[in-house]
Amino acid sequence: MLRAACLALVLALAPGPAPAELDAEAYETEAGALTEAERAAMRARLAAEIAAEQARAEEARLAAARKAARIEAERAARPLGERLLEARCLTCHDAGQIDRIAQGSLGWTATVLRMEWLNGARLDAGERGAIVAHLAARHPGRSRAEWAAVIAAGVLAALVACGASLRRRAKRAARRQG
Ligand code: HEC
Repeated sequence: MLRAACLALVLALAPGPAPAELDAEAYETEAGALTEAERAAMRARLAAEIAAEQARAEEARLAAARKAARIEAERAARPLGERLLEARCLTCHDAGQIDRIAQGSLGWTATVLRMEWLNGARLDAGERGAIVAHLAARHPGRSRAEWAAVIAAGVLAALVACGASLRRRAKRAARRQG
């Protein structure tokens, strides 16, 4: 009983007979119905369509080449330091991370050296100078370390000047006594 029900179900779900294939003879007679002139016109239309498609593809290729050349020219026109920053630093950073820091050449040199020595930035010879000059020009300002260096240099210069003046005065006093 169950087997019969299953069989009925399978028969009900099975697809019907496949539709007859398009028969070659019918196709041929249909194509044969075209006159020679109609066939020539069809060929001409196809050839025109192919030519138009090729022209569109060529135009797209030219447009892509023009765009690539423009981008390349724009890139080359930008300052070296900016291009180096992009190539050597923005591999690890986004620009904002670097933009928000303001320091002078000394601070930027220290930062770039830290990147090279501790963080694995790879620079070729001479690139550090260009990157530092670019960063110092675009993000001017003194970091705390730089202010400390400037103040220390000032204090040192004052001490040296004081020392020299004291020594001169002592010498003069010794001459007067002698
Ligand atoms: C290989 C990855 C890498 C490259 C390349 C790299 N950095 Fe860094 N940078 C780091 C890491 C990691 C830190 C965080 C640790 C630290 O401050 O030393 C950092 C931190 C910094 C900071 C401090 C950010 C803050 O929030 O204080 C600055 C500024 C900086 N990098 C600038 C540069 C510049 C300029 C270059 C290109 C010369 C560069 N980095 C290239 C990995 C990199």
